[in-house]
Parts: sequence; structure tokens; C-alpha cells
Amino acid sequence: MKISSAKFVMSNTDVAHCPREPIPEYAFIGRSNVGKSSLINMLTGQKNLAKTSGKPGKTQLINHFKINNNWFLVDLPGYGYARVSKKDKKTFQKYIRDYFSKRKQLITAFVLIDIRHSAQEIDLRFMEWLGTHQIPFAIIFTKADKMSPKARSEQVSSYLKELLADVWEALPPYFITSSAKHTGRDEVLDYIEGINQQFYQNQ
Ligand code: GTP
Ligand code: MG
Repeated sequence: MKISSAKFVMSNTDVAHCPREPIPEYAFIGRSNVGKSSLINMLTGQKNLAKTSGKPGKTQLINHFKINNNWFLVDLPGYGYARVSKKDKKTFQKYIRDYFSKRKQLITAFVLIDIRHSAQEIDLRFMEWLGTHQIPFAIIFTKADKMSPKARSEQVSSYLKELLADVWEALPPYFITSSAKHTGRDEVLDYIEGINQQFYQNQ
């Protein structure tokens, strides 16, 4: 898919105030610092569209970006980060849960996982939570440039094995990306394009 426009629309903490247009929406979620905002910039080809930082906890709101005037990308705060309240650190922030359970436009969630890490409890619990709410999701492994191609594929297969050992009978779609090297850009955008096409055909 070619990106012809990508614009910031609004930030807020309340799902009730998110944009009303009934167009397909994709949200990026994952632990703080995993590279959600960087990936949005890489996919849209705009370096500073979403704010990024070396320090965890940069994104604190629900941020809507309108792409090609007919779909939304959503940048969310990380879950499980210590700067938020103790209670939120253990669970997922309430407005994140509200966003995922109430946002009708949401078509697919992308759960971002740092490719260097083995399966972490909080990510597994979040995927399980998406499953119980029947929210379709795909996994995006980030920061692939930090590993050699061989180590990368070994790491991904062992991660997927851990997922199968957890609660999943079938594996979700997954992508290997690097925002630093622009890896995986076409794969993620083509996946979104396929879903958008189905959405607009069924209108
Ligand atoms: P929060 O908003 O705090 O939840 O973080 P985030 O998930 O949006 O992460 P962000 O995009 O701000 O990136 C965090 C750090 O990781 C920054 O220093 C980025 O430069 C770095 N980073 C992100 N993606 C990549 C990548 O693909 N490769 C490398 N090497 N670094 C990356
Ligand atoms: Mg961010």
C-alpha cells in the first residue's frame, strides 16, 4: 500500500471522545519502549508524526492518526510501566481496557513484542484478554536490527512455541520489523490493505 497522507487527528484519554468516522482502525499496543510510536513513523514515512523517546512512558494518551483519508492508526501508551500508578502497573490502564472493549471501529490490534525478549507474563495476559474480548490481533516483533537474521528466526520460533504452550491453539499472524532499518514495512501495510479492502467491499 502506498501512503499518500498521514495526519495527526487528536489525543485523548476517553474512548467516547475518539473520532466518530466509521472507518477501519488499527491500534498499536505493547510494553513501554517496545517501539510503537517509532513503528508508526516508519510505516507512514514521517519521522516525527508520533512522539518517540529513549525513556519509557513517552506516549500517555490515545492518539489517532488518519492515513490516506480512509483508515486510522492509533498510538497508545505502553502497559505495565512503573511511572503510571501501582495499580495500573499490574493491570492494564483503565482507559486502555475501555478503548479496546468499546471502540467499534477497531478492526485489529497489533501487539508489539521486542524481538530480543522471551515471552513475558504481561504480554501473554494482554493477548489472552484480547482473546476473551474477541478482538482480532496480530503480533509485531520489533527492533529486529538488534539481532542477526539467524538469531532472529530462532527467537521468533521459540516465542511462538511459548505462545502455543500458553493458551493458544492457533497462532496469530505475525510480522518481523525494524523501524531503524525499515524492515517489514510492506508486509504490515499490505496486511492492513487486505483488511481495508474487505471492509470497504462489505459496505
Ligand atoms: P512508549 O510511548 O513509552 O510506550 O514507547 P514506544 O513503544 O512508543 O517506543 P518508542 O517508539 O518511543 O521507542 C522507544 C525507543 O526504542 C527509542 O529510543 C527508539 O529509537 C527505539 N527503537 C524503536 N524502534 C526501534 C528499532 O526498530 N530499532 C532500534 N534499534 N531501536 C528502536
Ligand atoms: Mg510511544
